[in-house]
Amino acid sequence: MEQSPVTSRRAGQAVSVAAGRITSSAIRELLAVAGRPGVISLAGGLPSARHFPIDQTSAVVADLLLSDPDVLQYSSTEGDRGLRRWVAARHGAQVDQVLITHGSQQALDLIARVTLDAGDHVALADPGYIGAIQAMRLSGGHLVALPTDEAGLAVETLEEKLRQGLRPRLVYVVPNFHNPTGATLSASRTRLLARLADHYGFLIVEDDPYGEIRFSGTAPPALSTFTDRVLTVGTISKVLFPGLRLGWIVAPGPLAPTFALLKQAVDLHTATLTQKVALGLLTRPGFLARHLATLRSHYAAQAATLAEALTTELGDTLEMTPPTGGMFLWARVRSSGIDTHELLPRAIDQGVAYVPGSAFSVERPHPTYLRLSFATVTPRELVEGACRLAAVLADPKRSRPTWCRSTTNGPTSR
Ligand SMILES: Cc1ncc(COP(=O)(O)O)c(C=O)c1O
Repeated sequence: MEQSPVTSRRAGQAVSVAAGRITSSAIRELLAVAGRPGVISLAGGLPSARHFPIDQTSAVVADLLLSDPDVLQYSSTEGDRGLRRWVAARHGAQVDQVLITHGSQQALDLIARVTLDAGDHVALADPGYIGAIQAMRLSGGHLVALPTDEAGLAVETLEEKLRQGLRPRLVYVVPNFHNPTGATLSASRTRLLARLADHYGFLIVEDDPYGEIRFSGTAPPALSTFTDRVLTVGTISKVLFPGLRLGWIVAPGPLAPTFALLKQAVDLHTATLTQKVALGLLTRPGFLARHLATLRSHYAAQAATLAEALTTELGDTLEMTPPTGGMFLWARVRSSGIDTHELLPRAIDQGVAYVPGSAFSVERPHPTYLRLSFATVTPRELVEGACRLAAVLADPKRSRPTWCRSTTNGPTSR
């Protein structure tokens, strides 16, 4: 039989070339043990479960089951009309531009599949959001790493590369409280990026899960206010709860029907019940504003506790910007010879876990960086975690754990 010129799949190989592009991460395996008793995990990416609106959700579900038999039925691929209207109003878009997805991760996958051919360039920040890296690679995207600083993605570097001939199909940005760096794209870079998209004809993927969790400062203007070459990706995961698996794409008008066609082939539609529950919660009089205010003040207090504890325990050893939103603190270890990836097993032995910079690598390994989440653990654990981290960094070879202030004879249990 003639060999296909477009595939490198060998006879007998069980998985496709595309599936073979998904690699398992050593860090994932290491972090699996971070959940064991006694380890304070600052590694997780989960939102605070204490703030999930359980009572309101029960009331909405009970109401729906009694009043609307369609909640258990198949529904439309584009999504619940009421929910699409809510999303459209939030983004100043038309309802027909909105596709409801199973989380924003599915939105990223659909975008990659709709827009990319194998080898197309996708420019993004390095370090980058792991889920976006995976989705773009799975669709054959060739990633172009761009630097990032306190003002977010270095759009000037992108401009330089465009001048030199780079022609990306997509530029992926997390405009507010980037995961992992926590940086927010400045207003001037936002405008420049929009101008470049219009000039060079690429699409911008604006992925904004953390914009609602801003506890100080002002948000940059939305990219879609400057150009219509934007695919806006949103999610309810950090605002309500991620178990709903509810997100959306707001696509430029001509592209929207293609997204619906693809989604139909993938999973017919997003779960009917979850969409109705989300809409019920989001439109419950007064609920959302109150809930967001509670979330913001919780995350603000947690972020301040962690930043203060790190400053107290580590002083100049750690370079960081105290977060003004989101769920993560990104820090650089100044001590020479430290590799946060290599250090992780020892840190876990010392009862504290973080995500090393290498986990977010597009091209560069970021060996001196680590991401700490302040979302889920108690304030006491944040302080204890900072103290344990300081002990590991001060003496990376230490084999016996040093339990800090809050415990006398062992690790804090979670
Ligand atoms: C930047 C970013 N985008 C997308 C997602 C995916 O969120 P979900 O699929 O729950 O909407 C996350 C999750 O942490 C994220 O940090």
